[in-house]
Amino acid sequence: MAAQEDNIFKNVISHAKEYGFIFPSSEIYDGLSAVYDYGQNGAELKNNIKEYWWKFMTLLHENIVGIDAAIFMHPTTWKASGHVDAFSDPMLDNKDSKKRYRADVLIEDAIAKMEEKIEKEVEKAAKRFGESFDKEKFVTTNPRTLEYQKKIDDTNARLKTATSNADMAAMKQIIIDLDIADPVSGTKNWTDVRQFNLMFSTEMGSVADDANKIYLRPETAQGIFVNFLNVQKTGRMKIPFGIAQIGKAFRNEIVARQFIFRMREFEQMEMQFFVKPGEEMQWYEYWKEKRMRWHQTLGLGAENYRFHDHLNLAHYANAACDIQFNFPIGFKELEGIHSRTDFDLKNHEKYSGKKLQYFDSEENQSYIPYVVETSVGLDRMFLSILSKSYTEEKLEDGSDRVVLRIPAPLAPHKVAVLPLMKKDGLPEKAMEIMNELKFDLNCFYEEKDAIGRRYRRQDAIGTPYCVTVDHQTLEDNTVTIRDRDTMKQERVKISDVKAQLIDACSINNLLRKI
Ligand code: GAP
Repeated sequence: MAAQEDNIFKNVISHAKEYGFIFPSSEIYDGLSAVYDYGQNGAELKNNIKEYWWKFMTLLHENIVGIDAAIFMHPTTWKASGHVDAFSDPMLDNKDSKKRYRADVLIEDAIAKMEEKIEKEVEKAAKRFGESFDKEKFVTTNPRTLEYQKKIDDTNARLKTATSNADMAAMKQIIIDLDIADPVSGTKNWTDVRQFNLMFSTEMGSVADDANKIYLRPETAQGIFVNFLNVQKTGRMKIPFGIAQIGKAFRNEIVARQFIFRMREFEQMEMQFFVKPGEEMQWYEYWKEKRMRWHQTLGLGAENYRFHDHLNLAHYANAACDIQFNFPIGFKELEGIHSRTDFDLKNHEKYSGKKLQYFDSEENQSYIPYVVETSVGLDRMFLSILSKSYTEEKLEDGSDRVVLRIPAPLAPHKVAVLPLMKKDGLPEKAMEIMNELKFDLNCFYEEKDAIGRRYRRQDAIGTPYCVTVDHQTLEDNTVTIRDRDTMKQERVKISDVKAQLIDACSINNLLRKI
């Protein structure tokens, strides 16, 4: 990470704590690694992100319904889903730094460095050749870029084979051949690569033997798969249809750094879309496009999102990609879109002995549907919004301000109602306005300190509008509305305030733009 981005990331993390968005879990006991609590402002922002997702899925798609399945599931669920045998990361330790790493991540980072080298060659050549530069021709003919590209392709192919064969020795050999050194110790003194299962387990009931061992779900998706027929039959759903869910998931992440990007307890917003076998690729493309539009409608900058196709497919997928976001730690996965075939339902049928088939009355036949899944991490959504909206500004008068330019419909508070002074009946008038607004908008009331300081505090928590009650209000029933981003103020009739703010802050209006 570049030093400047590193600093911004540190500032975002300390801002999140100082302003009640995110606290380390059980901080008075020095915290718990990769576990976080959401504070008063964080909880509001999180709820708003959930609403934006839930409404998009369930209100805007008449063939998608939502459920809320339990975190604990019958242990055989995880045998059938493949998680007991295959949900593991290939890990290795550096003997000098004693740090543990994911082998595939070390290799992917090395590939990313080679890609950067190609980019640098392209930049240099573009400068040299000016307007006549043909990038496509350059990368396909320049010996140095061709050499890098060949190394990238070879490495990707070897990583793919090693992953699908679960061949840990081959994975270690790639690390040796690429001459990868530990970023901490700088040495290449590596242990062998071993598989490490990521599921947390606990015991159910009073007898702590193996028969009672259950897992904390590592993905919410399985709660949807095991309820597939319950929902289909009770909802009389016809294929294609979807089931959506928001809920906690748990993974014993070994490389658990980077704040809320990689947590051990986190939340997912997942939707499984059940389709006719053979039609999955068309729906896969459909959902890629829809999900990208959902993200970009937030207005954080279309250039901050990109697709990244998976070369190494998970055990259940026949096509998969990520929507990556430009986090302060670089472009990283925000959402996964996977064509999961009939892998899950077929295996649940096998392990449970219960039929999990859909009767297609048009085709007059039963089949196990194929599934296209969209899975976005709620905490990563939170981080994408927080980190892109965090802005340090130098103002014309020379002063500094930190402002969170959170999209207005997602902001924790939509409006702060502020009497200019704590006297002359201004607080009473402000309270009157607040009491009218609070049924439709999440409001904040404050009367202490100079108005400028109160504006700054609202900027820091991302409140898009401040309604200020001054002496003129008492004369002509008008207030000023201050815009967080432009800091401009306009005078508005009190009777117009509510409609104007609801219009600007409504999640439903945001949904209309998708
Ligand atoms: N059901 C499919 C599934 O779980 P995944 O790619 O492993 O797929 C989906 O996870 C999304 O969940 C990711 O794109 C990411 O946003 C989020 N996620 C996964 N692991 C996470 C972690 N340790 N901390 C925070 N979010 C995580």
